[in-house]
Amino acid sequence: MTRLPDFRLETYFSRWEFTARHHLTASDVQTMTLSELLALAEDKDRGAFENLSLGYTETFGDPALREVIAQSYEHADADDVICFAGAEEALYLAMNVLLDAGDHAVVVTPNYQAAETVPLALCEVTGVALDPDRDWALDLDIVAAAIRPNTRVVSVNFPNNPTGKVIDTADFTALAGLCDERGIHLFSDEVYRGLERDPARTLPQAADLSERALSLNVTSKSLGLPGLRIGWITCRDRTLRSRLERAKHYTTICNSAPSEVLARIALKARETILARNWALIAANLPAFEAFFAEFADDFEWQAPDGGCVAYPRYLGADGVEEFCTRLVEEAGVLLLPASIYRSELTATPADRFRIGIGRRNPEEGLTAFAEWMRARR
Ligand SMILES: Cc1ncc(COP(=O)(O)O)c(C=O)c1O
Repeated sequence: MTRLPDFRLETYFSRWEFTARHHLTASDVQTMTLSELLALAEDKDRGAFENLSLGYTETFGDPALREVIAQSYEHADADDVICFAGAEEALYLAMNVLLDAGDHAVVVTPNYQAAETVPLALCEVTGVALDPDRDWALDLDIVAAAIRPNTRVVSVNFPNNPTGKVIDTADFTALAGLCDERGIHLFSDEVYRGLERDPARTLPQAADLSERALSLNVTSKSLGLPGLRIGWITCRDRTLRSRLERAKHYTTICNSAPSEVLARIALKARETILARNWALIAANLPAFEAFFAEFADDFEWQAPDGGCVAYPRYLGADGVEEFCTRLVEEAGVLLLPASIYRSELTATPADRFRIGIGRRNPEEGLTAFAEWMRARR
């Protein structure tokens, strides 16, 4: 077991996620109840859930679930999919399978912390920063320059947590091509896919673009079902998939059987759930626009290209760390300050905070936030 540093985001959430009055920084969309999800099920799947035997399931994941997952790709079938306990287990095991001491990885920043700390515990890693001054652009020349003869993985995440950036399809396709040319696995974290503000900007899935690329996904984010803990990797490299299965023997062995059936139901209803979640975000955005318009001297706001988090700038002289601490302590409004997204690999902006736009009724938290801001004037 490699030694890993504290996961700053989870440590912060351990303190505040369930105690702050207004969780205004959630990275998942409004969830639903079990009965709401079952109401979307075909009769036979509802029956399968009610009569499920609670034994072990296949390590790769329930075949019927993998079949439904595979249908969301153009060039994958059920045997190209392996399921995990959330995206986090998948990310952790994939990096452990792909990287050895002596290897090298390239990771885009800012990122979900595990995307860099897991590879950093295994080998040398070079960061490539999204550029905040150019609308979080990813410079492919910088990625190409970072690649070494021993680079095994290039790891990206679009829509990006925390910036909300979605790069152009042409750049993403070029990145997959570059990785292929150099014999590198593109590890593409696609957990926010399906929530692009302009659906025309939805990227292809990496596993469809390249036989050696890995597409990471989960029910947690765009579908708003994190409690299921069902994630997956789709990759057409069957040898790699089999190595991932062996690694899983040392962690969760198999998924939760009830969750596998529920995930199958959710994925069959994917278009309905995504449409609901997309509409919720679209309906929420005006409340955020109005808030940031009122406090235009204090913040620089930009709606995300996709996903359900944004990463605005805080302009106050006290700094975003103190600002977020006082806001949660005094007004009960939880945001994530920039230090949570600090990187060991590159400079990252120190004046931003993550705000979530995908939960129902953000007006309540925004009102508490606005009242606190007004009182400070
Ligand atoms: C980009 C990204 N990848 C992976 C994960 C992990 O997802 P899960 O909680 O479903 O394991 C998260 C969670 O916040 C995330 O934002």
